[in-house]
Amino acid sequence: MQQNTTNQNLVSDETKTRSVLHVTNAKTTLEGEGFVVHRAFPNGSIREFDPFLLLDEMGPIVISAGDAKGAPDHPHRGFETVTYMIDGVFEHKDSQGHSGKIQAGDVQWMTAGSGVIHSEMPEKEFLQKGGTLHGFQLWVNLPKKYKMMNPRYQDISASKIPTVQNDGIKVKVIAGESMGEKAVIQTRTPIMYLHFTIQPNAQVVQTIPQTYNVFAYVINGEGLFGDKQISAHKEQIVFFEQDGNEITIKASNDISSPLDVLLIAGVPLGEPVVRYGPFVMNTEGEIKQAILDYNTGKMGKIDF
Ligand code: CO
Repeated sequence: MQQNTTNQNLVSDETKTRSVLHVTNAKTTLEGEGFVVHRAFPNGSIREFDPFLLLDEMGPIVISAGDAKGAPDHPHRGFETVTYMIDGVFEHKDSQGHSGKIQAGDVQWMTAGSGVIHSEMPEKEFLQKGGTLHGFQLWVNLPKKYKMMNPRYQDISASKIPTVQNDGIKVKVIAGESMGEKAVIQTRTPIMYLHFTIQPNAQVVQTIPQTYNVFAYVINGEGLFGDKQISAHKEQIVFFEQDGNEITIKASNDISSPLDVLLIAGVPLGEPVVRYGPFVMNTEGEIKQAILDYNTGKMGKIDF
């Protein structure tokens, strides 16, 4: 890099901080049996942000004993659902005979592939006691060649997720690489999923490949994003331009609590997206087939 900085022809060696494309507000909506979610997208003009199809913040919501709602049996085909719990306990069951708890700090990366039916409900004990439920669900699209792959699960407990703390910055590396740590989760296409907690006035400088689409979701606090230090706060989404290889996020210095933010990035697939509820394929015909396969029981059922 050193001798190239004066040579205009070798720009690829230089770092360039990305600018912000736009900032939007998450929309409060109800999912499943009436569970409150803040939907980052699809929302208004943003249908998807290739390769990402949806991001929901579930809660945070304080649930009184016996009152917890969830998402009973429903199918998925053609993409991946990534559940990341911050607080509370979810229970998962599916048509492959797989079941488990997702607790605070755990991640479940489910590749639905050709199809699964699953349920995502607050855990029984949690339901009896009540408490705070808070988590995220991200939908990651699969490229055409992997849409009909066999379903796959990666259940990663909080203790296995690499965490680095340094100079007022903490990062949990769910996917990709940050501050010298690599994620344990494997992704079908290159994905970066980082949870940063940034103390007031500290700044993150995250290297990101030029080809990735990048967005940030503010969980708590307020920060300044990108080369022009655009401000965004809790429940806002920051979409970045594809104009550099570095992302900067600075926590505002006039806040008492740290900035809590998800930074999510991936290589755009550039393929047609046809979505119908829980099915995301490349053509209308493939959607019709998915509906038929679901209705004729080809995606199985939860029978335990
Ligand atoms: Co689901």
